[in-house]
Amino acid sequence: MTELLRKFSSRAGNVLVYPDPETASQEAAARIAEAIADSVAARGRAVLGLATGGTPVPVYRNLVALHRLGRVAFDDVSTYNLDEYYPISPADPQSYHAYMHEHLFGKVRIAANRTHVLDGTVPEAFVDEACARFDSWIAAEGGLDLQLLGIGRNGHIGFNEPCGLPVDEFAALPTRLAELHPVTIEDSARDFEGRPDRVPRRALTLGPAPILAARVVLILAFGPRKAQAVRAALDGPVTAELPASLLQRVSEKTTWIVDEAALGAA
Ligand code: F6R
Repeated sequence: MTELLRKFSSRAGNVLVYPDPETASQEAAARIAEAIADSVAARGRAVLGLATGGTPVPVYRNLVALHRLGRVAFDDVSTYNLDEYYPISPADPQSYHAYMHEHLFGKVRIAANRTHVLDGTVPEAFVDEACARFDSWIAAEGGLDLQLLGIGRNGHIGFNEPCGLPVDEFAALPTRLAELHPVTIEDSARDFEGRPDRVPRRALTLGPAPILAARVVLILAFGPRKAQAVRAALDGPVTAELPASLLQRVSEKTTWIVDEAALGAA
């Protein structure tokens, strides 16, 4: 059934190459379903870190299809999303709350108090507290069983943007309020009527620390626009200037699911 073109190992984990986003997404959804089943069998629950953006849309569509076929259940699943714009209302159609409801939470049977998205309405004075609480909820659930990631054109994961911090300091960052990089603002404009000026300048994001602590990391990249960042993350130096390169530190538990185009010309 698989349409895997090839696989290879890289410094940043195993790389599975599919002909197109649809077949890649089928594989990603199957792996998420498998991770849920394994974690529920092993410890009675599955804790997922979830991503938003364009890339995972077909993954969620395939996951919902598996749910409707009775191949995956969410009764014992908790979810923690990677990020949310700040400030933003959950009722705003551009919010990641709305995205998750549209693509997953509104389409599967999952309890509302098990789906967690950082709250873009928290008063600024309480943001640090809210972020620390989010990390403590994940820790209280025994950590993330699986973290689903996309990658920004600038190599960001979550909204952990390229920066000049020493890499160890960057890797230890917790969940927090972060400034969006100009490239991210440009790319996010697509969700804000093509208007970069409407994109919030900041976002709440899971930090590199809880992301890298997940037991399994599944990172997706589709299309030629991601090729430069993907290549650098797979083979380049580990640096906060390219946040996805930190996956080289957890390569043994990381799988990249990409389409041919995301690797660029060989
Ligand atoms: C989304 C997220 C981001 C995206 C990345 C790629 O929750 O954390 O890091 O994964 O910006 O976005 P798309 O998939 O829209 O290209």
